[in-house]
Amino acid sequence: MVCLGNICRSPLAQGIMQSKLNANTYYVDSAGTSNYHIGDPPDQRSIKVGRENGIDISAQMGRQFKVMDFDDFDHIFVMDESNYENILALARTKADEQKVKLILNTNEDTSNHTVPDPYHGEYSDFKNVYSLLDKACEYWAKRL
Ligand code: 4NP
Repeated sequence: MVCLGNICRSPLAQGIMQSKLNANTYYVDSAGTSNYHIGDPPDQRSIKVGRENGIDISAQMGRQFKVMDFDDFDHIFVMDESNYENILALARTKADEQKVKLILNTNEDTSNHTVPDPYHGEYSDFKNVYSLLDKACEYWAKRL
């Protein structure tokens, strides 16, 4: 699960996806395209909206996406077009490129397939992020 800072959207995506998959079979992690929040816990508002929905993401720690992640993961879900372009720019092969998917690129009608960056927003924006990610993870978890 990849976003820009790895403190708002992708930690929630990680926690939600983990809650929908068997931990013995699936390893889910998250990262940021930037180095802004390496070692930081998730944003308090992401922790709160997770907690209100029974998902504890408080122990997560920010890290930056690295090229080796293409070797370690089968699927790389990104939150928006900017993340998509930044990750594709690091791909070494066609196989790397094919692992990268916009997480909202499902059959559902989700406008322009972007999980909006809530960092400068209100708590309601974090609730919206949670709702978008919950639906998308439900979709993908059934298909993995
Ligand atoms: P995220 O949100 O990409 O969902 O983690 C952001 C968090 C921090 C910043 C930008 C986006 N930042 O510029 O520090």
